[in-house]
Amino acid sequence: MMFRIVFLVSFFYIFVTNKHLNSFTTAMFSIFNKKTRVDNIEWLGVDIHSHLLPGLDDGSPDLDTSLNLIQKLHEIGYHKFICTPHIFTELYPNSSETILPALSAVKNALVKRNSSVQIAAAAEYMIDESFKIHPGLLTMGDKFILIEMSYLNETPNIEQVIFNLQVKGYKVILAHPERYLFYHMEKQRFERLNDMGVCFQLNLLSVSGYYGKEVKKIAEYLLEKKYYDFAGTDLHHEKHLDLLVNSVTSGLLYEKLGAYPFKNKEVFL
Ligand SMILES: [Fe+2]
Repeated sequence: MMFRIVFLVSFFYIFVTNKHLNSFTTAMFSIFNKKTRVDNIEWLGVDIHSHLLPGLDDGSPDLDTSLNLIQKLHEIGYHKFICTPHIFTELYPNSSETILPALSAVKNALVKRNSSVQIAAAAEYMIDESFKIHPGLLTMGDKFILIEMSYLNETPNIEQVIFNLQVKGYKVILAHPERYLFYHMEKQRFERLNDMGVCFQLNLLSVSGYYGKEVKKIAEYLLEKKYYDFAGTDLHHEKHLDLLVNSVTSGLLYEKLGAYPFKNKEVFL
């Protein structure tokens, strides 16, 4: 009987002290492990993909909307923007003739507001049979060209087009590779494009699950592989803005991407 009592008391003692020990260890661990919460996006600073120019595509419809979106993005830490309206013959037949006047209108309005925001324009080229290489292509930085494909199928001659661009000295950035579902079961295509020297641009909302679980998973895979060079908002409207602002101000975006070596600041010359 005595033995049983001693055993139970010892067991209880070990349980209690261990429990305290465990809480102490957990508390110490969380103090040392506490990450700094970063609630802005100064660490990225430059956006290289957006639809902020007014009246050109499925992005901002008018100047006031553009200015409002830019101001809100500025408030969370963006100082420089390279706007990239769609150039897609079937739907948005833009060119420098439509894009540059829209850029000037926004620039002038920003000057009138004494805004310190810097803004430039390139384009997001849909690579389909109508795409032609010509000297007037709108690029960013040192001849970086942003391209996209249909979400339904890989452009059949995509490698040839990329090669043709590279031969002419262009550096190809593929917009949001994580969103091309046809690549999800063929991850070797990412590897192939990466081997060809194609830069990948992540959509920031992909890591928050906005485009679905699968897209999020592939974005995480490509981040792990270090295949991305750039990150962009691909911002079209207020809904994108609200989600982005939330993920930035909550500190979650920095937690997920803050340590990744994006090169956005290198392309705004
Ligand atoms: Fe886009």
